[in-house]
Amino acid sequence: MSVRELGLPARAAASDMPESITIWEVGARDGLQNESDIVDVGVKVEFIERLAEAGLTTIEATSFVHPKWVPQLADAAEVLAGLKPRDDVRYPVLVPNQRGLDRALESGVRHVAVFASATETFANRNLNSTLDEQFAMFEPVVERARSEGLDVRGYLSMCFGDPWEGAVDPAQVARVGARLIDMGCSQLSLGDTIGVATPGQVEELLRALAAVGVDVDALAVHFHDTYGQALSNTYAALRQGVRCVDASAGGLGGCPYAKSATGNLATEDLVWLLDGLGIAHGVDLDKLVDTSVWMSRQLGRPAPSRVVRALSGD
Ligand code: HMG
Ligand code: MG
Repeated sequence: MSVRELGLPARAAASDMPESITIWEVGARDGLQNESDIVDVGVKVEFIERLAEAGLTTIEATSFVHPKWVPQLADAAEVLAGLKPRDDVRYPVLVPNQRGLDRALESGVRHVAVFASATETFANRNLNSTLDEQFAMFEPVVERARSEGLDVRGYLSMCFGDPWEGAVDPAQVARVGARLIDMGCSQLSLGDTIGVATPGQVEELLRALAAVGVDVDALAVHFHDTYGQALSNTYAALRQGVRCVDASAGGLGGCPYAKSATGNLATEDLVWLLDGLGIAHGVDLDKLVDTSVWMSRQLGRPAPSRVVRALSGD
């Protein structure tokens, strides 16, 4: 009998935990942007549709960035055109600038995300701008997107450590994050781009954000798992009241402009934790594992997720 048929993980609620959370699935964007080979449009569409079938309701589908900067996602319009419309799923996309927003609007997108850096060096490496210039680039994007009735998320990268600058001051991260909220982003996703954070830092940053007036309801967390800390960091964030967690099916992921960034927190590992804690999330773990196993066959290597490996024997 499988561990699932035996009713595992056993449920035991912990104190100070939300009743339910939203999982913001980023595998098709954060995962596939980092693949050395370009994945076929048809495979991307099937991946996203299988994720929706598994119960994920927020699936970041792609990015309208410069195709030379991220050739893996140059097919953004084709991917979106291939998806069957569904009322129960939203498909946010990344847009860095006005050109990206134009392209997203042409594809009928309703949810976009701008992505800022908390550090100077990464603003330069990822966006070819300075920390201040990135805001000049985003401002008209956010304003126009909102006037078109779109929802706008703001990502903030390098919140806990930067591969060029080292430790990042939480007060600086909070200041930059508050600018994204003030600009009109409905949510701020705190990125540990290179996966170096530890749980005490998560608490410290959430306190710094509260001190500048950013409400925890407006926050999401986005942990990469480079040093195996993503799940502990998520647990710390949940205890502080965060109710939106980014994760990628199978643990795909990384950032082509941040060396040492590896996969995101695996959605299956997150679901196992949430199931154990009795926190509702709406995802069918078995279908999700099947999807990640299928995707790992398309990519030609096993999924990094521990839960996928344990449940599939892969
Ligand atoms: P740039 O080269 O400075 O662009 O790149 P530019 O504004 O100087 O324009 C140059 C040419 O590119 C122009 O064409 C533009 O039209 C064109 P020309 O007039 O020369 O013919 N162009 C575009 N074409 C298509 N789509 C566009 C676009 N923009 C300009 N959107 C830019 C600046 C921001 C565009 C570039 O740096 C870029 O695309 N960067 C994106 C990098 C990226 O996608 N990184 C990964 C995502 S972030 C991430 O993974 C972190 C996250 O997961 C959170 C975490 O983990 O921390 C979110
Ligand atoms: Mg990321």
